[in-house]
Amino acid sequence: MPPPLSSRLSPTLLYIAMDDLRSIFWTLAVSFTAYILMRRRFDPLRSIPTVGGPSVPGIFYPNLAALNFVRNAKELLTIGHEKYRGAAFKVAFMGRWIVVVSDSKHLDEIKSHPELSIAEGLDEFLQLKHTIGATAQSDRFHVNAIRDQLTRSLNVVMPAVAEELALAIPEYIPCTGDGPWISGARRSIQQTVRILKPIFYERKTKLQEYGADWTDRPSLTHALYDLATHPGFIQPLRDEIESVIAADGWTKRGMNNLWKLDSFLRESQRVNGLFLISLARKAMKDVTLHDGTFLPKGTFIVADQCTVHNDDNNYEHADQFDPFRFARMREVPGEDLKHQLVTTSREYLPFGHGKHACPGRFFASMELKAVMSYLLVNYDIALDGSLRPENQYFGIDISPDPSGRVLFRRREPRGP
Ligand code: HEM
Repeated sequence: MPPPLSSRLSPTLLYIAMDDLRSIFWTLAVSFTAYILMRRRFDPLRSIPTVGGPSVPGIFYPNLAALNFVRNAKELLTIGHEKYRGAAFKVAFMGRWIVVVSDSKHLDEIKSHPELSIAEGLDEFLQLKHTIGATAQSDRFHVNAIRDQLTRSLNVVMPAVAEELALAIPEYIPCTGDGPWISGARRSIQQTVRILKPIFYERKTKLQEYGADWTDRPSLTHALYDLATHPGFIQPLRDEIESVIAADGWTKRGMNNLWKLDSFLRESQRVNGLFLISLARKAMKDVTLHDGTFLPKGTFIVADQCTVHNDDNNYEHADQFDPFRFARMREVPGEDLKHQLVTTSREYLPFGHGKHACPGRFFASMELKAVMSYLLVNYDIALDGSLRPENQYFGIDISPDPSGRVLFRRREPRGP
């Protein structure tokens, strides 16, 4: 074995080599510090405080902070709200900062700001190019088609929705009146695999051609969990549905008259929205907000929906699930058209707000009410367990627990 290098070098040469190493180390350290300070000095978002990590970038930062946000978004948004109440703060997202606001003045300002783009904002969070197709972002024909043609034709669409439900639901929840409680989940997974295989390929082609719809399935799962966890609300909802269907049938008008169910679904979305944030926008030019908050071109800004929905200033006992709170509010004279599932406001953001509020919400509302009505009228519904399956948080997403189980048993509908 050759002798170690140090014994082959003279003491002088060894000293020079060590000295060189020391200089290299110090040069790197000073350059890196200078780089960090320069980045910080010229970071246009430096005046906006950071939550979830230091504002100064390090070797692994901001990726570590972004990972922190993916894992703990809910907690970080709460910390930001408690610390900077009313003022903007920023969190790290994959490869960029996101500015977060929650006070009503900011919400009013960002919802329809001409230089804050919803298409670019949604693209960042939903990755439309990869999930729906590039044209969904570049060509906005579908927005007008949904806003105008679809929404205006809901009275024509509703009978077809009802017909579909009467065929599809018994197939997915095939139980008899005297039979045991069953959960739709396992059977629907088997059926889904069988049914989806051919459809998958057909849809894939169609998706490439036409793009896709948004889905409201998680809202339905949240609502079913809420219903099964609070069985005391089943009978009042059923009474309302049975008397409305007896009077109006399965029509758009009938769905509009379901105030309690509408309120139930609105409350379910308030407490268990699909996302922690709303009003995702990207600044297409430099924008300065009313309080001087400066958003350089390219900055993403969002509203903290979770904070807004859980604020006692916005909702009495905001932490409580009170399914008929909105139905009571509508009973006040002059308020009957407000507080509906489709009504957006600074205090209610699941469908966004302002000029770009979800154009599909009228269809989604009618569809959700039709499915819930069909289930309530035709089935007894119970939770498998005693506690609501816990929501799962991943980044800005709030998903209902996929392993939770709701049990169904066929019942005889009352009336026609
Ligand atoms: C419960 C179900 C749904 C929820 C919670 C929901 C939520 C949202 C939200 C939060 C936005 C962004 C609005 C903003 O930032 O101001 C949005 C936009 C949009 N939604 Fe929905 N949506 C639902 C169902 C649907 C359905 C069924 C359709 C289609 C029929 C649809 C089509 C759209 C479109 C096209 C946009 C983009 C609007 C634009 O770019 O101006 N949504 N939705």
